[in-house]
Amino acid sequence: QEERGEVSTKEHSDLLSSLPKHKGFFAHPLRMYKGFWVHENMLPRVMALQDHFKPRPSDLILVTQPKSGTTWLKALLFAIMNRTNYTFAQHPLLTRNPHACVLFLEVPFRHRFPDLEAIPPPRLLATHLPYSILPSSVADCGCRLVYLCRDPKDVVVSLWHFAQKLKPDTMGLSEAFELFCDGFSFSGPIWDHMLEYWRESLRRSEKVLFLKYEEMMTEPVGNVRRLAEFVGRPFSEEEEKDGVVEEIVQLCSFEKLSNMEVNKKGVYEVGETTVPHESFFRKGKVGDWANHLSREMGEALDRIVQEKLAGSGLTF
Ligand code: A3P
Repeated sequence: QEERGEVSTKEHSDLLSSLPKHKGFFAHPLRMYKGFWVHENMLPRVMALQDHFKPRPSDLILVTQPKSGTTWLKALLFAIMNRTNYTFAQHPLLTRNPHACVLFLEVPFRHRFPDLEAIPPPRLLATHLPYSILPSSVADCGCRLVYLCRDPKDVVVSLWHFAQKLKPDTMGLSEAFELFCDGFSFSGPIWDHMLEYWRESLRRSEKVLFLKYEEMMTEPVGNVRRLAEFVGRPFSEEEEKDGVVEEIVQLCSFEKLSNMEVNKKGVYEVGETTVPHESFFRKGKVGDWANHLSREMGEALDRIVQEKLAGSGLTF
């Protein structure tokens, strides 16, 4: 286990088995840890991160709820940060899935957790973990966080389709919907996850950028500029003139990424699960929930979310 970066202690396993347990969307049950539901099999690594992860001021951490546009955000920031290292004709994103370019803190890649210390600065990292589960040193060290959220109705529909791809016929959409509305999803409840980062983005706007999938879809060019400014790498006049911003938007678009050979055929090996790259690209649309959930279901989830976010200034 230690070799895989988990460093599980007796204290951790005693704590883990004492945590409330619930069925989630995927094979591994969820455990309630510090107010959030985390897959049981991930907890040793999550606990090890809290003890051992050493964030650096130059780190950039991308945060999402699963199915909120993680793959897109990874591609965009990888392209923004590395724009002087590669040409668009020979770009790593043409032959590598975005998840191979930006690794998750808590998810193994090709059966191993990344050796975080070995990644050269500035490190581009990703996580689905809630703010309060990140090691407290992340806030103290002043590294930057980019949070991307999405309308929860589209998230639940996307999540259910993803779970179906991995293991068909395990759960109907209505059961998945109920679980989601009760907060039983990875890093759920989703509203608490969003609220934590939302509040942090208001408190420390120079270090935490809060984005919405829907706004990125409506105005990708403006948001790519905003991302580049936030990470301290604004586009120069020359880059603007050469159309670099548009090139990045184009390279990372759903159409372009989903049609690449690597994303049609390749697989992402996560521990014992093999995730086909194509399962990260389904429709890439705003509002597809309406093709899968009834109007009543949509309204019910909207009511829950509105109630939970009330007074925060965050709306959908
Ligand atoms: P849908 O299932 O609604 O199509 P994540 O990357 O967090 O797993 O999220 C996956 C969702 O983002 C899927 O949504 C997927 O189609 C969509 N997506 C993937 N790449 C995208 C891109 N380049 N632009 C917009 N959406 C994208």
